[in-house]
Amino acid sequence: MEINRIAIIGAGNLGYSIAKGLVLSGLVSKKKLMLTEKNPARLESLVKDGYMATDNNVAAVSSSDLIMLVVKPFQIDDVLAEIKDHVQQKIIVSCVTGISSEHIYSALGANPPLFRVMPNTGIALQESMSCISAFNESPKQKETIKTIFSQLGQVLFIPEDQMPAATALAGCGIAFALRFIRAAIQAGVEIGFSAEDAKLMAAQITKGAAQLILQNNSHPEAEIDKVTTPKGITITGLNEMEHAGFSSSIIKGLLASYNKIDRKS
Ligand SMILES: NC(=O)c1ccc[n+]([C@@H]2O[C@H](COP(=O)([O-])OP(=O)(O)OC[C@H]3O[C@@H](n4cnc5c(N)ncnc54)[C@H](OP(=O)(O)O)[C@@H]3O)[C@@H](O)[C@H]2O)c1
Repeated sequence: MEINRIAIIGAGNLGYSIAKGLVLSGLVSKKKLMLTEKNPARLESLVKDGYMATDNNVAAVSSSDLIMLVVKPFQIDDVLAEIKDHVQQKIIVSCVTGISSEHIYSALGANPPLFRVMPNTGIALQESMSCISAFNESPKQKETIKTIFSQLGQVLFIPEDQMPAATALAGCGIAFALRFIRAAIQAGVEIGFSAEDAKLMAAQITKGAAQLILQNNSHPEAEIDKVTTPKGITITGLNEMEHAGFSSSIIKGLLASYNKIDRKS
C-alpha cells in the first residue's frame, strides 16, 4: 500500500517531533502531512511553520492513508470515538503509552492494520529508539512502517507483552542516560571546567560511547577493556563507582520504573 498522506492526530511534543523528523529525513514533504490540534494558538503556530493543520480529526483521517495517534492516554478514547467510522482501509499507528491493541480495536469496533509504537524524545533529531508491535498487518504494511520509523532512528519489532519493558528501557531510559550526563557535568565543574565546557564534554563522550557500541557492534565491557590500564586511573574510578552501587542503581531504577507500569496495557 502506497502512503500518500499521513495524519498526525495530536501535534504536541511527540506528534510535532515526528512531523519534524519525517520532513527532515526527506521521506515525507510537509504537503503530505496533516496535523491536528484542538488548541487554536498551537494550530496557528503549526501553520506558520508551513504545516497543513486542522482541528477537524475526521477530515484529517478521511483524507489520509496512515493515521498516527499521538494524544495523551486520557485523550485517546474521545479521539477513537470521533474517528471510528472513518478508519476503513487505513493503517493506524498508536504512540499512546499504555493503551493496548485490544483497547483500540474495541473502541474502533473494527480491526484495521495497527502498529503500537513506543518511541522516545530522540525522535526530534531522528535518533529515537522505537519499539513497535504489529497487528493485522501485511508484510508490505510492516515494511512501510519500518521504513518510516527507520528515518526517525532505530526500530525494533517486539511482541505486545514486551511493551511495558520497552517503555522502561527505551522510553524512560533516555532520562537515565541524561542523568549520567548531568552527574558528569557536576563532577567536571568540581575539577575545573566551566559548566558549558563540561556539558559539551559529557555529552560528546556519551555520544562517542554509544557510537562505539552501535557501529562496532561490540560489548560495552570490550570497549571498557580498551581504556582500563592495569593499576590505572580509569579502573580505579570505575571500581569506586561500582563500590557506590553504579550498575546496581541503574538496574534497580529501571526495574522500579518497569514495576510501576500497568502490565496489562
Ligand atoms: N513525549 C515523548 O517522548 C513520548 C514518548 C513515548 C510515548 N509518548 C506518548 O505520546 C503521546 C503524546 O505525548 P506528548 O508528550 O506529545 O503529549 P502532548 O504534548 O500533550 O501532545 C498531545 C497533543 O494532542 C492534542 N490533543 C488533545 N486532544 C486532541 C484531540 N481530540 N484532537 C487533536 N489533538 C488533540 C493536545 O492538545 P492539548 O494540549 O490542547 O490537550 C496536545 O497538543 C502520549 O500518549 C505519550 O504517552 C510520548
